[in-house]
Amino acid sequence: MFSTLLLLFHTYLSPTAADIVADAAALMAFRTAVGRLALPWNTSVSFCKWPGVICTGDRVTSLHLPASGLIGQIPAGTLGNLSDLQTLSLRFNALSSPLPSDLSRCTQLRNLYLHGNRFSGDIPEFLPSLTALVHLNLADNSFSGEIPLALNNLTRLGTLYLERNQLIGRIPELDLPNLIQFNVSFNRLNGSVPSKLRGMPADAFLDMPLCGEPLSACPGGDSSGRSKLSGGAIAGIAIGSLAVFLIVFGVLFLLCRRKGKTGDAKPFEVEVALGDKKMKNGFRADGKPAKAAAAVAPAALESQKQLVFFGDGHRVFDLGDLLRASAEVLGKGTFGTAYKVMLEMGIVVAVKRLQDVNMSPEEFSKKIEAIGAMDHPNLVPLLAYYFSKNEKLLVYAYMPMGSLSSILHGNRGSGRSPLNWEIRTSIALAAARGIEHIHSTSLTASHGNIKSSNVLLASSSEVRVADHCLAHLAGNSIVSDRFAGYRAPEVTDTQKVSQKADVYSFGVLLLELITGKAPAQAILNEGGVDLPRWVQSVIHEEWMTEVFDMELLRYQNGEEEMVQMLQLGVDCTAQIPDQRPTMSAVVVRIDEIRQASLLANKEQHQQQALAFDVDD
Ligand SMILES: *[C@@H]1O[C@H](CO)[C@@H](O)[C@H](O)[C@H]1NC(C)=O
Ligand SMILES: *[C@@H]1O[C@H](CO)[C@@H](O)[C@H](O)[C@H]1NC(C)=O
Ligand SMILES: *[C@@H]1O[C@H](CO)[C@@H](O)[C@H](O)[C@H]1NC(C)=O
Ligand SMILES: *[C@@H]1O[C@H](CO)[C@@H](O)[C@H](O)[C@H]1NC(C)=O
Ligand SMILES: *[C@@H]1O[C@H](CO)[C@@H](O)[C@H](O)[C@H]1NC(C)=O
Repeated sequence: MFSTLLLLFHTYLSPTAADIVADAAALMAFRTAVGRLALPWNTSVSFCKWPGVICTGDRVTSLHLPASGLIGQIPAGTLGNLSDLQTLSLRFNALSSPLPSDLSRCTQLRNLYLHGNRFSGDIPEFLPSLTALVHLNLADNSFSGEIPLALNNLTRLGTLYLERNQLIGRIPELDLPNLIQFNVSFNRLNGSVPSKLRGMPADAFLDMPLCGEPLSACPGGDSSGRSKLSGGAIAGIAIGSLAVFLIVFGVLFLLCRRKGKTGDAKPFEVEVALGDKKMKNGFRADGKPAKAAAAVAPAALESQKQLVFFGDGHRVFDLGDLLRASAEVLGKGTFGTAYKVMLEMGIVVAVKRLQDVNMSPEEFSKKIEAIGAMDHPNLVPLLAYYFSKNEKLLVYAYMPMGSLSSILHGNRGSGRSPLNWEIRTSIALAAARGIEHIHSTSLTASHGNIKSSNVLLASSSEVRVADHCLAHLAGNSIVSDRFAGYRAPEVTDTQKVSQKADVYSFGVLLLELITGKAPAQAILNEGGVDLPRWVQSVIHEEWMTEVFDMELLRYQNGEEEMVQMLQLGVDCTAQIPDQRPTMSAVVVRIDEIRQASLLANKEQHQQQALAFDVDD
């Protein structure tokens, strides 16, 4: 099966002895030419152990030499001979043109980072022949001449960074279907923004006399291809627009109605039966504060049931306060709907209204007491509960930043601050610790419903796991669609999720964090992918960097740690439960990976500072 990534790579390639010797010779020739003084490569150890060199089998597949004091021209017959090279990172050095054209022999090259050097002249003609390229960064050099239209050959390109060069002329009609990151700011380009690049942010085109979306409209209309419209054409457009509007409106209307049927968007009222009296109150679904309802009869409140608080909990509010408060729907989960409830005294809590609970009050309170007793900095605290025949409410602390799912998958693209590697690893660690704590309470204790929408954040440093152990309260084993992508293959009864099955779900969550992709059905009405299978298939094809979330690849230092984290996700999602690690082992490994990347980051900064000192 999928033991380790490295093992996979080893068996995939079987290099010949001649290639191995050739790679060593090529690296030495490279060092002689540009890094004689800078590269501390010890020829008495295997070149695969040299700093910056990563081998797969015995062939060089990555060369990472950022800010390493390299200077001068790279001759032909050096890097071009590393025919298995996939990643070449030479950023922040003092390398100059020309780039050797035999780099075109590196047909596996996916990542080429040359930013922050002294390259000049035309963008090399051989670049469009490197059709495996995914990330190309030529920023902060002195490239001049025009941007070649032939870059359209690079159909896999996801990143094209050309900012801070001396490029001139118009931007060609680039049509790169996978392009996500693009920047040509601070060049000397003019003319209009090509149609396929109009979705890019305005700051991808800074400081140049360009026009057209996303910048200001082109004057006169000839550069944007607009011309005067006849009256007939205008009428046609108007009718067309009206039709489109009507269609869109119709679709929206239908969607809303369908949602309404499933109870999602309907204004909502909680009905709490107290004794034989029924109380309705103002929990509203539309986000607007509900009017404080006057319908609450205090006598009814006192007559019977009350909120049961946990611990020595400050009972600053009671059931009446809760029902009087305004509320909005946070989401419909596996076990019921959650509301954000704003109490009049300024306290905000999350209230979960459980569905399908069929057990005696004694049984319920026994189980809920066990959940309430789980006190850990990485679990959402259960503050209180209410139990009656018709209504079961759980009162939790409110987590203002929402769920990992919404942070990770919500409003991608514009106006979003990306989740960096450091935050992602700290979220992973916190969630793992919360789950580890649940597992530590008894041999059979499990969370039962681990998914990214159950990992909540109060701030970027306060991460807590929610909904723990509610599966044990559910009356019938409802199989939630939204849990489907996280469910271990052996789980048939969602009430009986083992600790090993929790580890599987957590593994999927890790893969989600690293790839930025949602597991199957995790997002309502959207497909998503079978993450464990997808990751494994991509690993097979050796498209390592394509696995990672684009947002992470801005931080090019951490690739090794990302691979380790990916490996952990793969281990956790082993098909056979006994092959999965325990949650405690998972915590230890995440902690190690995190420490390593914090350290690497620090060294990187120091190294970079050093390189700039030498240069300037
Ligand atoms: C190179 O490696 C050999 C074998 O490990 C070691 O004995 C030697 O001291 C190293 N040389 C330098 C300059 O580090
Ligand atoms: C690179 O490959 C070429 C042709 O295969 C060969 O002639 C040259 O010697 C190689 N360069 C090094 C440094 O070995
Ligand atoms: C475009 O890619 C093909 C291979 O897909 C290659 O043969 C061709 O030379 C490339 N074109 C340019 C201009 O490099
Ligand atoms: C755009 O730049 C080119 C080269 O710098 C120049 O020849 C051309 O006149 C410019 N076009 C416009 C419309 O400014
Ligand atoms: C493009 O590069 C410039 C200069 O480095 C930077 O200010 C801008 O934010 C970048 N824009 C994008 C979209 O990356």
